[in-house]
Amino acid sequence: MTTDIINIKWLLNTRTNNELLRGTALAQLPVIENAWLRIEDGIIADYGEMSAYQGSLSRQAQKKNLDTIDATGQFILPAWCDSHTHLVFAASREEEFVDKIKGLSYADIAAKGGGILNSANKLNAATEDELFNLAWKRLEEVSKLGTGAIEIKSGYGLTVEGELKMLRVIKKLKEKSALSIKSTFLGAHTYPTAFKENHQGYIDQIINEMLPVIAREKLADYIDVFCENGFFSAAETETICKAGMGYGLKPKIHANQLNLSGGTQIGVKLGAISVDHLETMDEDAIKSLAGSATIGTLLPTAAFFLRMPFQPARTLIDSGCAIALASDYNPGSSPSGNMNLVIAMSCIQMKMLPEEAINAATINGAYAMELQDEVGSISIGKQANLIFTKPISSIAYLPYAFGSNCIDKVMIKGEFL
Ligand code: NIG
Ligand code: FE
Repeated sequence: MTTDIINIKWLLNTRTNNELLRGTALAQLPVIENAWLRIEDGIIADYGEMSAYQGSLSRQAQKKNLDTIDATGQFILPAWCDSHTHLVFAASREEEFVDKIKGLSYADIAAKGGGILNSANKLNAATEDELFNLAWKRLEEVSKLGTGAIEIKSGYGLTVEGELKMLRVIKKLKEKSALSIKSTFLGAHTYPTAFKENHQGYIDQIINEMLPVIAREKLADYIDVFCENGFFSAAETETICKAGMGYGLKPKIHANQLNLSGGTQIGVKLGAISVDHLETMDEDAIKSLAGSATIGTLLPTAAFFLRMPFQPARTLIDSGCAIALASDYNPGSSPSGNMNLVIAMSCIQMKMLPEEAINAATINGAYAMELQDEVGSISIGKQANLIFTKPISSIAYLPYAFGSNCIDKVMIKGEFL
């Protein structure tokens, strides 16, 4: 089956070779004006300028089943790659949202048994089917908002049974969804109440009871730890990540969100795929990240929702760190998986250029899930995961019109949603 999309006003992020973008390269967004794109069996087969389309068509003439889509006035870009979410959860937490309006902090809420523990209680009471159905609806919602590849974490189980249940839900989502999904084991999200005074006991449970089953059933691609004061120390993070790495799980770490936790440096030392959050960075953490292959994943909607200072994106980019943007979709700190909003916020509040934001949310996001050979750019051989915009005037209009839905249609693996 061949589909040609013709008369594309601007085809964005066309790349002939893959490269993790950092420094000034992040602002380079290749475009073809007045373009065409060919899809064969869900894969990008060719593309170019409309002036060369007739020639390509004559080479194609013998083929039957050629479908043509006219995209006059539309921009087409690769679907978003959201490399950090907690999309499987049992219930929303708007009562805590109101507590925060009344003055409680994220840490206050966690200390009184709310926050992650609140979500864990609800998750442990839910069945696998209930969790799957809720997560499926969220996946449908974010895919219509342009997300084509997504990472999903466990971390609301905090018991052997609960963590495995979450990971099995993610496995089922992987099997049933057209989206590319990566799964991360975040058993070390917080200490469950039963182990409040016995941290080593819970770490032993993660290492001796959870990880062997996860490895045996191939339930995760990555290991994550919430490295934070009052949660897991840098030393505990290292121990847990190393145990995961023993089973082939590479680290993607929650680092430097509320405090200078040392998570960035530990992540870099362990060769983590990414260190995520980074609201609270000092010179040492920035230097360590800049000199590494580890990606700094910025989650501006979490900073926004928690009323925290935004991540220092400009300093990170200008220092040479490779950064990605992600939604952190979760019920406590970012109850939104809308990547369009993430991009707008990164431009409005973190002074990223629209081109930088799009690259950080596509090709660099793909790298943060090791999916760079499949998604994240308009490249021959990659999946036809495409966002068709409504008629808009420029790339900058996307983050500028932050409250408008600029998406007309989304295509995943060559099929419109
Ligand atoms: O990435 N910071 C740790 N974990 C999540 C929030 C979890 C929650 O509050 O439920 C985050 O922000
Ligand atoms: Fe998170």
